Order: sequence, then C-alpha cells, then structure tokens
Amino acid sequence: MSAAPDEAGRAPLAELRVAVLGVGVMGTFHAEALSTRVRGARVTVVNDWSAERAAVVADRVGARVVEDPFEAIAADDVDAVLVASPGAAHDAQVGACLDRGLPVLCEKPLTTDVASARALVEKERALGRRLVQVGFMRRFDPEYVALKKLVTDGDLGNPLMVHCTHRNPHVPEHFNSEFMIRDSVVHEVDVARFLLDEEITSVQVIAGVATASAPAGTHDPMLVVFRTASGRVVTDEIYVRSGVAYEVRTEVVGERGSATIGLDQNLVVRRTDGRWGGTLTPGFVERFGQAYDLELQRWVDAARRGTVDGPGAWDGYAAVAVCEAGVEAVRTGAEVPVVLEPLDGAPAAPPAGVRAPDLEAAR
Ligand SMILES: NC(=O)c1ccc[n+]([C@@H]2O[C@H](COP(=O)([O-])OP(=O)(O)OC[C@H]3O[C@@H](n4cnc5c(N)ncnc54)[C@H](O)[C@@H]3O)[C@@H](O)[C@H]2O)c1
Repeated sequence: MSAAPDEAGRAPLAELRVAVLGVGVMGTFHAEALSTRVRGARVTVVNDWSAERAAVVADRVGARVVEDPFEAIAADDVDAVLVASPGAAHDAQVGACLDRGLPVLCEKPLTTDVASARALVEKERALGRRLVQVGFMRRFDPEYVALKKLVTDGDLGNPLMVHCTHRNPHVPEHFNSEFMIRDSVVHEVDVARFLLDEEITSVQVIAGVATASAPAGTHDPMLVVFRTASGRVVTDEIYVRSGVAYEVRTEVVGERGSATIGLDQNLVVRRTDGRWGGTLTPGFVERFGQAYDLELQRWVDAARRGTVDGPGAWDGYAAVAVCEAGVEAVRTGAEVPVVLEPLDGAPAAPPAGVRAPDLEAAR
C-alpha cells in the first residue's frame, strides 16, 4: 500500500532511506525486515558500537557502515532513523533525530530516566509535529488489536480488571528485579494503557518465593499490581526463568464477560505416544515477529510523509515513569504513585495511546 500525501498535499517519499543504529538482536531483525518484508524503505546506513557487527549487517542488507551514530543521523542519504541501541544511548540519539527533524522509531525504553523522557516529549512538541514512535509492538499484534476492539466496542461491558502473564524460559544473569520491571514489565505497562485508554497512577510489587534458578536477591517471579486513573486494577505476573517457553497472556475482565489472548499462540496440537500437546513459542521474535513487521510498515508509511502515527513520545515517557515507580515499589514494598507532569497549557495528561492534545492540534 502506498503512503497517502501529507497534509500539505506533498507526495510521500517514494522510498524511505533508513539508518539503523545498533544491530544486535532487534536492530538486525528490523534491518532485515526493512530490506525484505517491509515495503517502501531501504536501509542505507548501519551503525553499531561494534564496527565488525555493523559491517556484517550492512553487507547483508546492501548498506554502508557509518561508525559514529550522530554522523549516521546527519548523513545525506538518511530520511529516517531506527534506534535499536541499548536504552542508555536512546536519549542522545533520539534527540539528534529531532534536531534534524527526522522521523525516528526508537525501541523501548524511550530513555532510561523520567527527566530525559519528559525532555524529549517537550522537544518534539516544540517542533509541532510528531516524529517519535516508540517500539511498543504489541499494539500491532493481531491478537492485541482484536482484544482492544472488543474493549472499545463495548463487547465485554465496562472493563474492570486486566490480568497479564509474562514468562520467559530463561534470561541472562543480569535480569535482576529492577531489570525485569524496566525491560519486561514495560510491555505490560503499555498494554494496560493501550487497552484501557487511561494512565496508570500507582504501582505495587508483591514478591513471593523465588525460583531456585534466580540469582540471590532477585525476585523471580513477582506480581506487579497497577491502579489506573479511574481505579481499575491490572495485575502482571512476571516470571523470566520459568524453564518452559515464552508465554505472554492477557485477560480483560469486563462487566459483561471476559476475553483472553495468548492461550494457544502457535500451538500445533499433536497426538503422539499417548500424549496430547504442541509447541509453545521459544522467544519474543517467534511470538511477535508479525507484530514487529506490522509496526515497521506503519512507521515507514507515516515516515514517508515526514511524520509518525504509532505509539509516541508521550507513551514512552508514561512507560518510563511507571517503571520508575515500579522499581521503587520493588525496593520498598509500598504502593508507589506515578507522577506524570501534564504538558504546559494542557488541562491534564493525555490519555494513553492518544497523542498529546496540543501536538495533535499542531499536526
Ligand atoms: N520491542 C521489543 O520487544 C524488544 C525486544 C528486545 C529488545 N528491545 C530493545 O531493543 C534495544 C536493543 O536490544 P537488543 O536486545 O537488540 O540488544 P543487543 O545487546 O542485542 O544489541 C544492542 C546493539 O547495540 C550496539 N550498541 C551499543 N551501544 C551503542 C551505541 N551507543 N550506538 C549504537 N549501537 C550501540 C551493541 O554493540 C549491540 O550490537 C533495547 O532498547 C531493548 O530494550 C526491544
């Protein structure tokens, strides 16, 4: 599908030339998608801390290596930037994209602290057009889209609670309790905001018995409890060393019924050797591969018109703020409030999944 003209009636770019910053697991996956499965884009520049790794991916997708990420952002043959470097590098790299007025798809997290995420919201706002999309790909997953539609259409009645489960079979040693909140729970934060269209106002973390495979001091699993602005409750079981599979489930409980997704994702049922069962997805790429591609296609279509229309800087900022409160909740065991500073002149924080109101008006 070709991108529609922009609001000034200008034709979209025939082809979006993309710089990919950081080509580890996600950057490599996205670079390959942009070169094969996604229409209307081409990777022209690849950058990574490891020039060797950048060269391998650049060679594979027919791009050139630029060793400095800021030179990559400034390159003449770059119309848009995909940031898949580690979270700590996002602030400066996304900021540089805004300085150049380039659409950017930034993998989550937007940044690693609330103040810098907030500063990016303000910086984009000052430009008067949306340029930042944050990589909350579950919003593009067909199952989440279907669940969202059930909620929006009122088929379940008023949604009262959301129950999430997020299990990984295994993770590297550095996944401590704080990292679990910032890296994994952040997805459920966005899911809750997306499904309920309201902000999360507090976080509590209940840690029980930990699995024997967790490093000392790491609470794995944990039960995270969110409260929303209207008083709804969202629970998230986060368990990253289950030893089983990558299992992500979400249930919405409404006044007139409930609906669950992720129960039998990719489950091929077999009957063999007197047993019944199938195969669960081993990792996030297998479970959300289609969602990543749909996310990229949506970003490319909008970026060809010089903007973005997926989850934005506000969503990234809100998620960072909730995770910050979550980390504090792990430490203290208390119910920690989430503080979102409304935009200047705006009556209140924009609802989840909706663009900041004044940005919307400026488009
Ligand atoms: N949306 C999702 O489901 C999802 C899943 C996994 C990871 N992520 C996010 O994607 C990002 C990358 O994660 P990953 O798993 O691919 O990590 P990774 O460690 O596999 O890859 C990161 C790459 O960035 C490079 N790098 C380091 N510093 C850099 C810098 N300043 N500039 C450019 N490159 C730099 C590293 O050499 C490495 O190749 C993280 O923000 C992570 O949270 C998102």
